[in-house]
Amino acid sequence: MGEYGLKSTLILPKQILFGTGVRADLAKLAKRFGNKVLLVYGGRSFAESGMKSEVSGLFGQAGMEVYEMGGTGHDPDEDTINRAVVTVLDIKPDCIVGIGGGSVIDTAKAASIIVTNGGAVKDYWGGRKFVNPSIPYIAVPTTAGTGAEVTKNAVITSADKSYKKSIRSELMIPDIALVDPSLTLTVPPPVTADTGLDALVQNIEAYTSKNSGPITDTLARKGIELAGRYLVRGFEDPADLEAREALSLASLYGGITLLNAGLGLAHGLSHPIGIRFGVPHGRACAAVMPKVMEYNYPAQKRKYDEIGMLLGAKNSIDGFIGLIEKLDIPRRLRLLGITEADLKTIVTESRGGSRNYNPIPHTDETVEKMLREML
Ligand SMILES: [Fe+2]
Repeated sequence: MGEYGLKSTLILPKQILFGTGVRADLAKLAKRFGNKVLLVYGGRSFAESGMKSEVSGLFGQAGMEVYEMGGTGHDPDEDTINRAVVTVLDIKPDCIVGIGGGSVIDTAKAASIIVTNGGAVKDYWGGRKFVNPSIPYIAVPTTAGTGAEVTKNAVITSADKSYKKSIRSELMIPDIALVDPSLTLTVPPPVTADTGLDALVQNIEAYTSKNSGPITDTLARKGIELAGRYLVRGFEDPADLEAREALSLASLYGGITLLNAGLGLAHGLSHPIGIRFGVPHGRACAAVMPKVMEYNYPAQKRKYDEIGMLLGAKNSIDGFIGLIEKLDIPRRLRLLGITEADLKTIVTESRGGSRNYNPIPHTDETVEKMLREML
């Protein structure tokens, strides 16, 4: 079966609820932890869509005391997180509900754990360990991509906005992940493409990671198949609920598999490309993925051949490129504003993290050569 003798592990939130309409259960779930809830959300669109009043109303009907922290925005930096910590310390909620895209979910996730452990983001970047459980946390994604609702890290940008770095601990895994695909129906097509590609790349990198195993492989294969089959549909018709359900599942599987199997070189490169050139995370992952697949192929031939089949193509690279072309995603790095002079910085800033799980070891020189071929 190709899986004999392999090890695999599966760490998860205590509960995952998936399905259209499951947001109706949100207050009942939050009430398990107490009566005082803090709702963390992102920009104005959440309030303007009527979703904020709907969710607050659910808590109100359940007789809960509701506090709100909005405007956490995209790509949270150290200051955003440290401010969120002060707010949480002030309110002292029994439970935090983070509802939004990956940035909002990560902001609430980071605040929930720093509050119970003390210190600031920098301390944990510097090696301080989390030892206390976080405040009970329910993560509710409104995009389909990052899988942040199940993962053990939060990606945070430095105060001077020069780099992004995670804080991580198994104690940060949300207690409950509530995934209601109907919350993603208002996501506009370019964001559907970017986030959906993040989900696809996460499943592919986890599937081919050197830490992959039979349990995560099963989920990753399904995630790849769903993203491959439904991403263009969700992109072309935002109201296609079947596609939205498939993409939310692909995102969830990507989160579970990256949590347990790690990622690879494409994710390592995506962080400096994202922050230096303002490229959305999934778009950066997608631009470098074909070259990474080409490089990694010798180590994971069987799996890459299977990815090709799951994407309905004769090989994985053709399948992936065919998909991003339909989604209007640029493939050359120069189209993202990157020049020859930037390559060394990207390589240096991509070290460690996800690169450690890449199925083939690589030097900085190898990576620079790959980037040059992608220009
Ligand atoms: Fe990602």
